[in-house]
Amino acid sequence: MLPCQRHLFDIPDDVSYLNCAYMSPLMKPALEAGTAGLARKAHPWQITSDQFFTGAEEFRNVAAQLADCSADCIAIVSSASYGIETAARNLPVKKDQSILVLAEQFPSNYYSWQRRARETGASLKVVAWPENNDWTAAVLDALTSDVAIAALPHVQWTSGGRLDLVRIGEACRKLGAALVLDLTQSLGALPFSVHDVQPDFAVAASYKWLLGPYSVGVLYVAEKWQGGMPLEENWIQRANAHDFANLLYTENYDAGARRFDMGERSNFALLPAAVRAMKQLLDWKVAQVSETVGALNRQLANAAASLGFFAPAEPLRAPHYLALRRKEAIPKDLPEILAREKVFVSLRGSSIRVTPHVYNTAEDGERLIACLRRIAAARTST
Ligand SMILES: Cc1ncc(COP(=O)(O)O)c(C=O)c1O
Repeated sequence: MLPCQRHLFDIPDDVSYLNCAYMSPLMKPALEAGTAGLARKAHPWQITSDQFFTGAEEFRNVAAQLADCSADCIAIVSSASYGIETAARNLPVKKDQSILVLAEQFPSNYYSWQRRARETGASLKVVAWPENNDWTAAVLDALTSDVAIAALPHVQWTSGGRLDLVRIGEACRKLGAALVLDLTQSLGALPFSVHDVQPDFAVAASYKWLLGPYSVGVLYVAEKWQGGMPLEENWIQRANAHDFANLLYTENYDAGARRFDMGERSNFALLPAAVRAMKQLLDWKVAQVSETVGALNRQLANAAASLGFFAPAEPLRAPHYLALRRKEAIPKDLPEILAREKVFVSLRGSSIRVTPHVYNTAEDGERLIACLRRIAAARTST
């Protein structure tokens, strides 16, 4: 278990921010790294040509450590949707085949597949919400011989439902189906290993559990797809990019997954901030983040149970991700009511989504429970 890390963040004492799944706060050292990076543009004569590459390679290195893969397999992208679209453009699928997604899957990991299915005549196969909350069993059941691509998350984004990706990866390989992962709601908070899961593509936006800035993300591309077609053609993905005096033209791309990098990937403000945050996660260790945040959530789940709220238990639920439901509908304005008390959560689907991190204290959880108790009492008495 990690001691509380709030000192690294700029979170006032009276703010209980329990909404990392919406957007993590940028820690002070990452903000400083990003600010210093942005400031460099005031003196462009000090930005040397090799700096277009060093920051990007550092990003690849730390991201690869978090995903347990080689840095050569990492591309730098703008968003989860950019990575998913890259996968969708490169994976074969035929008319009588299907593409597997979950019910209520996040739109950035849905629309690309919907279009790919329409273009090819393949069908979208949607795994229905499992009543017993066992998404792994439901996916394994749906993985039949017609599936060409399984496009999945590690954690279902409204419920916190957790998928056993090692078992699902094995099943995909047996079938010859490609596995594409959106790890935006898990990478950095839930241990994950490319080596163990063996996906074809995996993407994570940085601004949630990677604790990084908005508009940058990590894309893993398996070696077998590294000869594929990038979404954009730009000078810096090419083999001659280091030679600024001779950029015209070559057929050859840079090595590994670098060809899939977004245009202007050498972002001097975003990359240093993202790298600093990922280094901090490596320092804490993802398993310890998961355990620490999981313990906070277990306390919260127990306290919320006495108010009539329920959530799936671990391991069907990811430790870092608590979605509280109850029999009666949850008022739509609940997040606003809580925000007035400086307690921040989200409403997603029919759940209150509570997603703390290592900056949260036990008092943050107690404040949420106290607010829920007051609201429940007020509604009962009116
Ligand atoms: C599961 C999941 N994937 C992706 C995203 C973000 O997608 P994008 O980076 O395409 O904006 C979110 C944002 O809430 C999400 O919850």
